Amino acid sequence: MNKVMAAAWLILVLGLSLGYLASGEGEAAMPEKEMETESEKEQPQNVTAEKSELVLPMKKRVKTVPQSEENVETAAEVDYQIVVNRDHPLPEDFSPEIVEIAGRNARGEKQAAAALIKMLAAGEREGLHFVVCSGYRTADDQRKLYLNQIQKKLAEGYPESVAVMEAEKYSALPGRSEHQTGLAFDIVALSYQNLDEGYASTPEAKWLKAHAETYGFILRYPEDKEDVTGIGYEPWHFRYVGCIAARAITRGGLTLEEWRGD
Ligand code: DAL
Ligand code: ZN
Repeated sequence: MNKVMAAAWLILVLGLSLGYLASGEGEAAMPEKEMETESEKEQPQNVTAEKSELVLPMKKRVKTVPQSEENVETAAEVDYQIVVNRDHPLPEDFSPEIVEIAGRNARGEKQAAAALIKMLAAGEREGLHFVVCSGYRTADDQRKLYLNQIQKKLAEGYPESVAVMEAEKYSALPGRSEHQTGLAFDIVALSYQNLDEGYASTPEAKWLKAHAETYGFILRYPEDKEDVTGIGYEPWHFRYVGCIAARAITRGGLTLEEWRGD
């Protein structure tokens, strides 16, 4: 390398170095990297946008999927307006979730039980005292009750064929009782616990008759509807059907069979 070339090389190197420093690219490299990090922190919209792609669909999934699964399950397993009577036995796939009703010594379908608790609490706030004398029954419970009723009628002196008819006036055949759905409850007054028509005159029976629809219940076996329901007047037997149906049935003076067209 001659002197001229060496001088030119030196000028070129010096020139490039000075230009580099003047542009601020040298020392500024590290802080700028840090600033990028800071600026990322200061731009939450970027983080949100990034997170939203990852998190929101997850949140959506958590919110929607279990809800719709629950709804499907509820619709498939519990039909709150189901008709169960002599002509319509309980379907084999009817599988309600049965829960204990705290302090009431009875069991019932989960949603019906919650409505029952609210209804009784509302009446009791008005000074009434209810006793739930029957809720959910297994097929075996119903069989025993039914046979007991026949025995009772036989003991009262009825001939066998009449005893069965008399028993069935107030006792459904096993597999044909609403109590097996967990949606029916027999409710009496602490001061009057006989299952007879006298109960209808108690303040508890009157209050229930007037307020049941608010909580989704109907008086299932009204007076003068025995020809429709197949069951005599039971002022104590309330059936959960949900609020819309309860209002329509009660205000229309209908039975569940008439409302459903069964
Ligand atoms: N007492 C009602 C009809 C039942 O046995 O289900
Ligand atoms: Zn009943």
